[in-house]
Amino acid sequence: MRILIIGGGGREHALAWKIAQSPRVSALFAAPGNPGIARHAVCVPLAADALDDLLALARRERIDLTVVGPEAPLVAGLADRFIDTGLAVFGPVAQAAAIEGSKAFAKDLMAKNAIPTARFAIFDDAARARRYCRDLGPPLVVKADGLAGGKGTIVCRTLADADDAVAACMERQTFGAAGSTVVVEEFLEGEEVSFFALANGDDALPLAAAQDHKTVFDGDQGPNTGGMGAYSPVARFGVELERGVMQTIVRPTLAALAKDGAPYRGVLFVGLMLTSEGPKVLEFNCRFGDPECQALLVRAPGDLVPLLVAAAHGGPWPAVGPWSAPASVCVTLASAGYPGTYRTGAAIEGVEAADALPGVTVFHAGTALRGGRLVTAGGRVLGVTAVADDLPTAVAHAYGATGMIRFEGMHYRKDIGKRRSA
Ligand code: AMP
Ligand code: GLY
Repeated sequence: MRILIIGGGGREHALAWKIAQSPRVSALFAAPGNPGIARHAVCVPLAADALDDLLALARRERIDLTVVGPEAPLVAGLADRFIDTGLAVFGPVAQAAAIEGSKAFAKDLMAKNAIPTARFAIFDDAARARRYCRDLGPPLVVKADGLAGGKGTIVCRTLADADDAVAACMERQTFGAAGSTVVVEEFLEGEEVSFFALANGDDALPLAAAQDHKTVFDGDQGPNTGGMGAYSPVARFGVELERGVMQTIVRPTLAALAKDGAPYRGVLFVGLMLTSEGPKVLEFNCRFGDPECQALLVRAPGDLVPLLVAAAHGGPWPAVGPWSAPASVCVTLASAGYPGTYRTGAAIEGVEAADALPGVTVFHAGTALRGGRLVTAGGRVLGVTAVADDLPTAVAHAYGATGMIRFEGMHYRKDIGKRRSA
């Protein structure tokens, strides 16, 4: 098979690393890729949202399967365009990707199908949104409807915060058109879990759960980031909880999309809050999480490609072997200043030595080659990932490897995978 991966972050490096191990793969391409991905794939310098160019590339290279990493091209209709010309895609069509692309759509679908989620209402009028904030009372959450690069969710501790969040979305247009509609919802207490299931249009296959660490500083302090680290599995998310989530959330969601003429093919990422009343949906994403994907794939069973093919083509699920490692962790190494403004171009040392340690894989995210030297090129630079027989050992290996890597201003959390509940 000839496979094309779309994207160029840590998630896509993990996908490339895993897919390249498949005996079924004869050629692997990535667009745009990164220097880590270039070890496994031919990187083509096309942006993930350049749909026309990506389609031309897939046709020219006779690609059998395109695996889409990020959400934006899916929400923009990449899968629709590819499928229309007879090309197979791992990732949903736009109407199904709206589960991530429009929070209002996702919430409506959940309300109509009795899928557990926070109490909410949807507004395109600021005065009405503010009135509902008063009905709900703080704390509450204001969410821009559309894609906002992970910044469109505002947790409000006071009514003044809520008024400002409504103004930011609907009056100051901080998120552009994405904020002209908002969801206002109840604040949920509990622990967050990212759960992943593959979907082939009418049937779902549970993969595993992971836990992200969203804030920049240890102890869940500081502003939110794209994700400072993740581990898998999540001890609190056992077999019973997984079965319940498949039955009350994943299957009814997929059935609702199929009934509306948009069968979902790809991976469904369910952001869950484990509340005292049971798991409730915080959000759906139409893709793997980053860095959850890195933690998931280093321990995922055998050959991933038949699973991706079954999802893309709507075929039956192949037999899935045992997971290759009981526990894994990914520690994000970030540039100075991230998630605020940061510098790039700092020389990176020690990646090869760290990557050579047993059980350790260093995934590239924001890196570039300049004059043959590896330099920083993004906020999240590397994902140091380790597997072991138990989580504390995986954590020790990942931090041991992290200690071998240096770049100016490098910072990372020291407490990934160390939550008491982990
Ligand atoms: P989202 O963009 O929906 O993933 O939200 C980003 C983050 O905001 C989540 O990971 C949660 O930490 C938090 N969040 C979102 N919705 C809620 C909610 N209803 N209650 C509490 N926290 C929330
Ligand atoms: N790590 C969270 C996300 O990918 O959305």
